[in-house]
Amino acid sequence: MKASAPGKIFLFGEHAVVYGKKALVTAIDLRCFAEVKKRDDFRISSPLGITGIDFKKHPYISHAVKRFMEVKEIKGADIEVKSQIPIASGLGSSSAVTVSVLKALDAEFETSLTDEDIYEMARKVELDVQGIGSGTDPFLSTYGGCWLIPDRKPVSIGKFYFLVVNTFEESITGEMVRKVAKLKETFPEVVDSIMDAIGGLTISAIPYLEKRDIDSISTLMFMNQCLLKSLGVSSDKIDTIVSELNSMGIASKLTGAGGGGCVIGIGSNEKLTEATKKFSTAFFVKPEKEGVRIE
Ligand code: MEV
Repeated sequence: MKASAPGKIFLFGEHAVVYGKKALVTAIDLRCFAEVKKRDDFRISSPLGITGIDFKKHPYISHAVKRFMEVKEIKGADIEVKSQIPIASGLGSSSAVTVSVLKALDAEFETSLTDEDIYEMARKVELDVQGIGSGTDPFLSTYGGCWLIPDRKPVSIGKFYFLVVNTFEESITGEMVRKVAKLKETFPEVVDSIMDAIGGLTISAIPYLEKRDIDSISTLMFMNQCLLKSLGVSSDKIDTIVSELNSMGIASKLTGAGGGGCVIGIGSNEKLTEATKKFSTAFFVKPEKEGVRIE
């Protein structure tokens, strides 16, 4: 059986959401596809290579299989993964892999898991691999749509196109989240105030996104980017891209865990098109309503 699940972008609130603050996140129209067939041993094939159960090379898929086997003991499976989502780029590829593999396992081995079961399992896999995380990425890969997290409140943002510029520097979520946790341990009051500020600007942004008030969104995105930078999760490349986009009149910030990965931008269609000429690694994504599904 074959299943797919979408990636995501954080519009506001990454990192702060790990500490229970608000974040605004939308699924995007890039998907990961997982095909599972019964077999006597395990074979995992993905853009990372071909292995058996391998917690180093295929950590998310291997942990997904392990968690699935708590529900149903299986002898083996052929798991083939193909993805439209660039790996370690802040666009949720790990969660999309996990969720699509769990859905395909569920369908192939007829375990009748609900979407919430799949989300809960993917959430455990996130913690198995990263040790820390808010569960936002697996939630978006499971349910699709645009949400205020942790409230699970759907938000309507209409027909936005988002510009994405890939830095092609790796963004490793566990590493970045641990880095922020360490900073918080060292300077608890300061980092708590930064987290509160990020949560606050997430809430402020919602009405402006609904109204498509690009000027106000730009101001808030700029503030969010500065606060993320103060947490140590930006990079020179991200800063350069953000400032070039800002000077073109495009609101922008890093998205996801940072340290590399992607920058997102919002602006008028003309300005965004102009930016794709300037940045060879730029592309567009759209909000995606549909979460995990059987293909
Ligand atoms: C990663 O996409 C987003 C972070 O906020 C981590 C998490 O929410 O688990 C950095």
